Amino acid sequence: MKEQIQYLESRIKVRPEIAIVLGSGLGPMANEVTDATVIPYEDIPGWPLSTAVGHAGKLIFGQLEGRNVVVMSGRAHLYEGHSIDKVVLGARVMARLGATKVILTNAAGGINLSYNRGALVLITDHLNLQGTNPLLGPNDDSLGPRFPDMTFCYSPRLRQLALETAQRIGSTLHQGVYACLSGPTYETPAEIRYLRIIGADLVGMSTVPEAIALNHMGAEVVAFSCVTNMAAGITNEKIHHDEVLETGRDVSQQFINLIRAMLPSV
Ligand code: HPA
Repeated sequence: MKEQIQYLESRIKVRPEIAIVLGSGLGPMANEVTDATVIPYEDIPGWPLSTAVGHAGKLIFGQLEGRNVVVMSGRAHLYEGHSIDKVVLGARVMARLGATKVILTNAAGGINLSYNRGALVLITDHLNLQGTNPLLGPNDDSLGPRFPDMTFCYSPRLRQLALETAQRIGSTLHQGVYACLSGPTYETPAEIRYLRIIGADLVGMSTVPEAIALNHMGAEVVAFSCVTNMAAGITNEKIHHDEVLETGRDVSQQFINLIRAMLPSV
């Protein structure tokens, strides 16, 4: 982590206070940053490159709504073959640079039948079903404690702010529990029935490792899913990655509006 921090400190003008991680199809948000310093992942030593279609691969430092932000456009996923350490490296580096408030976004399959395609959902809690955890192995005491509490993994303060902001701007914001699987296969209909029984409203392949690593470091996390498709077996249709990206693009403006409206109080 030291070499990435050293490199980025040499490139940026101001330290970020808020980090925003963009999920599949949500890339347009990166264009909203003003006074931007754009750093492609290839330039950062030891940074995992994004291979997923729909993920750009750059860090954008600058201002949004008067706040110093860093936008991570493109994240590393376990299914790409990255180690869990690499999956959370970006989140850890951004937090160490000063961004101790983090907005995570993702594309997810909708399990809760009250959602529909394009719905925005505030993540209230998660089920980590990836079979791994970024904190496995010797604890790095300089980052955080051995057994971090996860009761308030998704900041109650920021969740409240998100709900109030959505209401204020007239945007519908659902709430739900996100189940994180490794992918890269989408789920089977039986897996989706199982996930519903154990309490999942959403399913996806990201966000949870970052949320865990950030909580470990004492950062405040808020996370949103865009329901890009209903989960397997709910409709009679196959799931296509193109559809995931298209829905992400369709709702990205609504997403951007919500995040912008929240930012002054984050
Ligand atoms: N399952 C898992 N991950 C996803 C999905 C899904 O249906 N849609 C977008 N990301």
